Amino acid sequence: MIPVRRGSAVGANAVSGIGRANGTTGYSMVDCHPRREDILHEVVTGLTKMPKHLPPKLLYDPKGSALFDTITRQPEYYLTRSELSILSSIGDNMQSLVSPDTVIVELGSGSGEKTIHLLNMLPEETAYVAVDISASALDSALSSLAVQFPRKRLIGMVADYLTPLVLPGNFENMPKLFVFFGSTLGNFEPLDAVHFLNDMALSLKPHDALLVGIDLKKTPELIHRAYNDAAGVTAEFNYNVLTRINRDCSANFTLEYFRHEAEYQPDAGRVAMFLVSKKEHTVTIADYDVYFSAGEPITTEYSYKYSIEEFYSLAYQAGWSIDQSWTDANELFSMHYLRPDLV
Ligand code: TRP
Repeated sequence: MIPVRRGSAVGANAVSGIGRANGTTGYSMVDCHPRREDILHEVVTGLTKMPKHLPPKLLYDPKGSALFDTITRQPEYYLTRSELSILSSIGDNMQSLVSPDTVIVELGSGSGEKTIHLLNMLPEETAYVAVDISASALDSALSSLAVQFPRKRLIGMVADYLTPLVLPGNFENMPKLFVFFGSTLGNFEPLDAVHFLNDMALSLKPHDALLVGIDLKKTPELIHRAYNDAAGVTAEFNYNVLTRINRDCSANFTLEYFRHEAEYQPDAGRVAMFLVSKKEHTVTIADYDVYFSAGEPITTEYSYKYSIEEFYSLAYQAGWSIDQSWTDANELFSMHYLRPDLV
């Protein structure tokens, strides 16, 4: 049984079940957040591997989601501005691609800034399901959408979209447009991205589609700068994962014992973000002791960059065909409309 929580939007009304009564303002929330024991298990598993790593989703607690939102507004972080410029230029195309009964399902919806552009292009009747690991990000995004789109059916789902999702809301027979913005697909290892897209393609129907934003390969310096903002917000975002693990997993990380690093590795075509242990020490996480040597890194997130051709080949391998693609005027970022290649 999925626990259902009422949204706290301005004017949200308590109606029974998922969804809301006509003429009311608000949204519904479905809470499928991973359990505390599962998070602890993932943390300890990742930190006892060589090299050590943490699941990127842990970066997105309430503070982390707010910091990521601040990252997207840093002058060096070209990704969000470029993606928004593409979105605002493809309005007519989207209207012809999406039928009025299409349900929009956004994976990793975050602050919902891009969603507003998307929903503005689409008929009022289209329902919108936002899936995000952060309940606070969903609450704040959906409460402002509820004010702007008072007649739209809005549903938030707190979940890790890497686990199989059962969508709320009786939408089985309606066409779905999945949207995956922010180059979040680039946060997967390329093989994992293929598996993720393939699982998705296999679970869809011919009338479903995917709109995905992909950051492009470009001058390494420009990418490096985007992930090393002068204001230090990315560093704060990275350190916050330790604070979060201290709180949620009864751990005793000392933030000062770690150094933040984010570098673009052109050969691998990715940004790699690390927390590097400055000295030899041991951290206690619940009942576990985790040893760090001096200079030992924890990988906290990758951000892979693709050329258009590389992304096409990834998508084909994963069982999708590209219907349309767009880039911004500076060709920094790309957006693709894909359909599952069902045989
Ligand atoms: N989706 C974002 C991106 O790939 C996530 C992100 C923000 C990130 N800051 C980061 C990933 C730093 C790696 C390193 O840009």
